[in-house]
Amino acid sequence: MRDLPTRDAFLATVRAALTGPAPRPALRTLLDEMVQALSGWPRPWLEHAGDELLLASSPEMTVYHITLTPRIHYPPHDHRMAAMIALYQGSETSFSYRRNGAGLTLLQRHDHAAPGIAELPADAIHSVVNMGTARSAAIHVYFGDLIAAKRSIWDRELRQERPFDNDFYFEQARAVEDEA
Ligand SMILES: [Fe+2]
Repeated sequence: MRDLPTRDAFLATVRAALTGPAPRPALRTLLDEMVQALSGWPRPWLEHAGDELLLASSPEMTVYHITLTPRIHYPPHDHRMAAMIALYQGSETSFSYRRNGAGLTLLQRHDHAAPGIAELPADAIHSVVNMGTARSAAIHVYFGDLIAAKRSIWDRELRQERPFDNDFYFEQARAVEDEA
C-alpha cells in the first residue's frame, strides 16, 4: 500500500492540475490515482463531524471531502461549473434533472460505486443520496469558486427554483423512508 498524500500536498497537486494547460485530463489522472490509493485504505482519508468538510475555496477551485450519511436524500441543485467527484468508499446515487418552468423534471438515475470518478458538466442539475448502509466517502473538486457562484437550488417537490442557500440545502434533506 503506497503512502497517501497529506491534505496540503494533495490540494497543491489539484491546484497545479486546474491551473495547468489541460485541467480536465490532468485532474482526472490525479483523482483516478487518489481513489485507487484510498480504496485500499482502512479509514476515511479525513475525519470530520457532519457530512461535509470544505478543504479549499479560491477563484480557480473548490474542494470538499464529503461522507454521505446513508439514506438521506439531498435536494436538487446546480453548480454552474464543471465538477469531478472521486468516490473512494461506498456508493452514491445521483439523480439528474432538467428545468421545467420554475420547477424540474427528473431525467435519470445514476448509481456509482467506489472506486470511481463521476464527471459533471457545468450545466448539470442533480440531487444525491447514499442508498447503501454505510457512510460513503468522496473528494469533490469544482472548477471554480463554488462558494461565491450564483447558482440554484430547488425544493424536494421540484417545484421552485431559488438562489442556492446552504441552510435550505440541509433543511430540505429527507430520509429516503419518509419519501412518498
Ligand atoms: Fe452537487
